[in-house]
Amino acid sequence: MYNPEKFNAVADNFIHIHGALIRDLAGIIDGGEPLFFESFPRFSRILAAHTQLEEELFFPALEERAPGSSASTEAPHREIEEHLAQLVAWAEGIDAPGACTVQERLVRFQRELQGHLVEERRVVMPAMMENFSAEELWALDGRIMEFCSPEFMQEMMPWWFIHMNLGGRVAVAGNLVIGVDPDFVPVLAQWIASGLDPDAWRELVDHVPALGPGSASIEVQVVV
Ligand SMILES: [Fe+2]
Ligand SMILES: [Fe+2]
Repeated sequence: MYNPEKFNAVADNFIHIHGALIRDLAGIIDGGEPLFFESFPRFSRILAAHTQLEEELFFPALEERAPGSSASTEAPHREIEEHLAQLVAWAEGIDAPGACTVQERLVRFQRELQGHLVEERRVVMPAMMENFSAEELWALDGRIMEFCSPEFMQEMMPWWFIHMNLGGRVAVAGNLVIGVDPDFVPVLAQWIASGLDPDAWRELVDHVPALGPGSASIEVQVVV
């Protein structure tokens, strides 16, 4: 049965962050060679972290409750890893082929990634909702920062918000401000704001007031 609280607890990972990955990759493909060299390594680090969180945090917990539920992700994860490594090497200038070959491989990789993300949403996301209570799902979500260094969070957080639409930003920011220690909210707000233009930041704070005055809004006006 549909449970909105459970849905919200898994939507960040399986809908909003998947959407950000798809959007960033589409932008890199549209941007041609210069954007590939500039942005693909960061895209790759963030996709690798997403996969790592699934394999070390979410999926082992799910496997304990419902063995086999995440089995269909194993082969795609290995293939994605392999293709990412090749593309990152090219983006770093190691044996890079011509622009046409890079573009063709990127489009193939995009199809592969899209297929994987759709499958995760179709199979694993419902299994998470079926096998955990809302409280347990929130508790798992709350452990994400244990798996990422503060330096990496500082890189990943603005990236998430740059590549999300307003609905995604509001949902993820709303969950984050509830999930983190209140003392940490100003830092979180700075990280998020550093990726957004002033209008987009204000629009987000209008929807998630806990991010605003009293957290980072004053500093943000200086930063941007
Ligand atoms: Fe995955
Ligand atoms: Fe995923």
